[in-house]
Amino acid sequence: MMYKEFYNQSIRSPEVFWKEQAQKLAWYKEPVKILSKDDNDYYQWFADGELNMSYLCIDKHIEDGYGEQDAIIYDSPVTNTKQHISYNQLKEEVAKLAGGLQDLGLIKGDTTIIYMPMIPQAIYAMLACARIGVIHSVVFGGFAPHELAIRIDDCEPKAIITASNGIEIERIIPYKPFVDDAIKESRHKPDHVIIFDRKLGVEIPHKPYDIDYASLISKASIAKPIAIESTHPLYILYTSGTTGTPKGIIRDSGGYATALKFSMKYVYGVEESDIYWAASDVGWVVGHSYIVYGPLLNRNTTILFEGKPIKTPDASTFWRVISEHNVKVMFTAPTAIRAIKKEDPNGDLIKQFDTSCLQYQFLAGERCDVATLKWTEDKLKVPVIDHWWQTESGWPMLANMVGMGLQKVKPGSAGMAVCGYDIQILNKEGKEVPINTEGYVVVKLPLPPGTLTTLWKNSTRFKTGYLERYKGYYFSGDGGYMDEDGYVFITGRVDDIINVAGHRLSTAEMEEVVASHKAVAECAVFGIHCDLKGQKPLGLVVLKSGVITDHEQLQNEIVQNVRSAIGAVASFRNVLVVKRLPKTRSGKILRKLLRNIADESAYKVPSTIDDIAIIEEISNIYKTRKIGQYKNQPQ
Ligand code: COA
Ligand code: AMP
Repeated sequence: MMYKEFYNQSIRSPEVFWKEQAQKLAWYKEPVKILSKDDNDYYQWFADGELNMSYLCIDKHIEDGYGEQDAIIYDSPVTNTKQHISYNQLKEEVAKLAGGLQDLGLIKGDTTIIYMPMIPQAIYAMLACARIGVIHSVVFGGFAPHELAIRIDDCEPKAIITASNGIEIERIIPYKPFVDDAIKESRHKPDHVIIFDRKLGVEIPHKPYDIDYASLISKASIAKPIAIESTHPLYILYTSGTTGTPKGIIRDSGGYATALKFSMKYVYGVEESDIYWAASDVGWVVGHSYIVYGPLLNRNTTILFEGKPIKTPDASTFWRVISEHNVKVMFTAPTAIRAIKKEDPNGDLIKQFDTSCLQYQFLAGERCDVATLKWTEDKLKVPVIDHWWQTESGWPMLANMVGMGLQKVKPGSAGMAVCGYDIQILNKEGKEVPINTEGYVVVKLPLPPGTLTTLWKNSTRFKTGYLERYKGYYFSGDGGYMDEDGYVFITGRVDDIINVAGHRLSTAEMEEVVASHKAVAECAVFGIHCDLKGQKPLGLVVLKSGVITDHEQLQNEIVQNVRSAIGAVASFRNVLVVKRLPKTRSGKILRKLLRNIADESAYKVPSTIDDIAIIEEISNIYKTRKIGQYKNQPQ
């Protein structure tokens, strides 16, 4: 069947379409109710079905006779480790850890936080929770203790699973002390902190709540997977919103399993036993869906890579991993390719490796510029597929569904709607716009299985943020346009979320930290263009009256504050002092205007501005401080 026909079926008869896909999973209880409504009057998939994600990702393959196949290849250039972990070994590790969690009193419906570097124990922890119905929330290691504390207070974990340390190129990141600091700050206190000691000589400070991972599993009973309702949350994943408080996206179990299994075959074009590599981090949605659950559900071998595209040890690492482990499909962010291209513009390092095993290179996480796409195509000599999705969707919404046969690649476009997603472009008033006209990218309800079901303890924010802007549609927060062939071009966020090196960050959160500096009266933080990271944050501050301060020192202090409150990953490095901020007469700061002036893009000064003179003043400050120059530097 051709893509278009398949897609149309999914939109015309979603229940028939997804029932058929769900039947490809080994349910404990096959669902009869395919699509229904929950207590919040929102859609739910397979409500009366029961299954277990850990069983589907591990035990099922062993029962089918594939216990000796590699489930995970852990490749860590930062520790010089390569480890092949079979499905049999994975089961042993996961079942023991799940037993250990049960021994500590954790039961179905409890929550845990997993704050781990890219090591196999991070995957074991996720699957161990899934095995016994414990809802996990993985927090990206680049977030600082304060961010971790916010998440601890929101999801109230009974246990936190962490490691002695992470490694950023050569630098040791002290995970355990970060957890201790977060617990000191949080109102909620977990009962236990389980620490995996990487035995790299890093000192682990001890607290009464500590439990050693190795001792726990050495005494643990083996846990069997339990039957879980399809709608039971598998995980909470926090993501940046437009306020200072992150949103806890809830993912169900049955819908997610159905969608991921479907996507492995039809979006990524991989068959069982293929080697698949998503070079992301388990702390992001890409890691959840395509390092852990998707490939393992599909009985692929997943690569767990603890390194960077460059400097571990150089810009050839990606090509070595592809060639050495026989990777068929790879997924990374455009920023990683730009980093490699900067170090090896002619792609000479690629020629040192036989990458002929690679069939498709997928890119996502941020807008992919045409130059990056073309360079990758030219150097790797495989189709390069940009595709678009979000933490909320959990799996691709726009793509080139190569499993249905490769469609034409249009550089600059993230592809066409994936089965199940009725993507439309609306104007401000909620009317569909003509072809090639920019508007808001929305999805007509119901969303397909696997997408968010609500926000943790905040169904009001779920409704107001996503469902009420345009009745009957899911509001993505992105702008874009659709061409005459149905290809969508994403132009960027229409809110105050920015995307720095493929990492989604909230400027509102950064503003809260900047504004808390004693010298600052008010501030604006927004994203400006960066050649390497796509965007990077810039802060403008107005000082309290009478404050005289050294601007360089002020910048250092504010940068340090953001680093310790949010984390290094924010890449917040630049602060400019201005006399006033441009606002509308009703007092709203004109952030988009500030960004456009910095990026030297065309801008229109709104007629509602309160003080037109400020525009020229800020423009001059940008010029004096050479914004255009430093925005293009990696640092
Ligand atoms: N734990 C602790 N710190 C982390 C971290 C982690 N897991 N990940 C990043 N950081 C830190 C970095 O060490 C860096 O700290 P520094 O400011 O002290 O140097 C800071 O956060 C910014 O990191 P990063 O965004 O990775 O920038 P970089 O300049 O070190 O590297 C790239 C640039 C392009 C190589 C890198 O951003 C990259 O690989 N990007 C791809 C990201 C990706 O795959 N995203 C996928 C999401 S789908
Ligand atoms: P996250 O929730 O962290 O995955 O970030 C999702 C956001 O990243 C989207 O809302 C987009 O703004 C951006 N994004 C992801 N993939 C793409 C893409 N292929 N093209 C353009 N923007 C993208």
